[in-house]
Amino acid sequence: MADRERLIVALDVAETEEAIDILDILDSCVDIFKVGLELFTVAGPSILDEIHRRGKRVFLDLKFHDIPTTVARAGVAAARKGVFMFNVHASGGIDMMRRCRDDVVTVCLKENIPRPKIIAVTVLTSMTQEVLKGELGLQHSLYTHVRHLAGMALKAGLDGVVASGHEAAMIKGHCGDRFLIVTPGIRPSWADSDDQARIMTPKKALGAGADYLVMGRAILRHPDPVRAVERINQEMSGV
Ligand code: C5P
Repeated sequence: MADRERLIVALDVAETEEAIDILDILDSCVDIFKVGLELFTVAGPSILDEIHRRGKRVFLDLKFHDIPTTVARAGVAAARKGVFMFNVHASGGIDMMRRCRDDVVTVCLKENIPRPKIIAVTVLTSMTQEVLKGELGLQHSLYTHVRHLAGMALKAGLDGVVASGHEAAMIKGHCGDRFLIVTPGIRPSWADSDDQARIMTPKKALGAGADYLVMGRAILRHPDPVRAVERINQEMSGV
């Protein structure tokens, strides 16, 4: 895979027009865009069509978590919208993940559409050890829980997980090299860390085993976003 194909730009904006401006600005240098809860809620699924119309790919970051039938149906809907990747919460359980994967595979084969990559969210980075233990009643460590949930996703036949660069090597060790790692919390050496606590540079994250890097503010808030992407691509190629 070419290095520029590893970069996913997060369209974390509140207005459809703003998202379209970013698509225009980054047209020449970015191949994959992430649509999350905020943009999807304001823009609706037509934003996916808009991105696809430009020949770009979509990571639909809606973190599905519901009963197996509902998640499977949402996954099939995402596949029919032509997204390249979407995600579900691993804590929904193996049956939820497996049903989603199986139904998506079946529909994609039957309707001759490309199968999206299905990625699990393990433990949100906003979660702390204290909350896991005190509120959710989990006895083992956050690290162990991430590994456990990643193992469940593998068992359910999913393609990979969202994970910080700090967990990437452990997950590859546990789930194998072909299990994809999609990594947010990336900051080039020249960018602000914003509210991300456990950051890594693009080069370090790829070195640790990340397959895709999700980046938002370091690019969107840069005075010259195209230049920011060029610098990031250069940094990735140096791996
Ligand atoms: O602006 P920044 O590069 O920090 O944006 C990172 C993106 O990755 C945001 O869309 C954020 O919601 C997402 N994300 C994250 N940490 C996670 C999972 C997703 O920052 N653990």
